[in-house]
Amino acid sequence: MSRLTLLEIYEHPIAQKYVHRSGLAHAISTAYYAYQFALEYNVNPDLAVKAAFLHDMGHYTWYVNGEWDYDLYKENDIHPIKGAERAHKLLIRLGEDRVRAKEIALAVLFHTDSFLPESPITRTPLQEVVALADEADEEPDGKHHYRYISPERARKKIADLDRKIERTLNHFYDESAGAP
Ligand SMILES: [Fe+2]
Repeated sequence: MSRLTLLEIYEHPIAQKYVHRSGLAHAISTAYYAYQFALEYNVNPDLAVKAAFLHDMGHYTWYVNGEWDYDLYKENDIHPIKGAERAHKLLIRLGEDRVRAKEIALAVLFHTDSFLPESPITRTPLQEVVALADEADEEPDGKHHYRYISPERARKKIADLDRKIERTLNHFYDESAGAP
């Protein structure tokens, strides 16, 4: 079965709409961190990178008179829930395997616990990798959502990351097949 690439996900109009809204530069950078953490934690890098790239696609904007209203956001935000649903729908539409699509969607759902009243989440290693990657790219006052990246650079970085993932996956498969 051929792998659904990050580039294919990025090029879909749904990703174009929602990943841009919460910051393409942040999505790409979080995906790169997720790749590194995935290797460190022995987690499938393909799932980690896809979840990291899509993790904030559930964001809605909470502006009042041109200013971000943090209280309004804190009170009403459900972006992990919406993001998990949007990511799942997009992945299934693009032909991602159902089991993998669910794992990715759950990693999006649990990338933060900010939407829960209390009770910390116990995360799986994949979910932990995505949460760590998001934290690694966070800047004070939500500035990470506003960084700019040109479309050319974004495309190149995404294609480069696809190649890294494919090399790593081939390596895993070679090892499990007993090849040198
Ligand atoms: Fe984020």
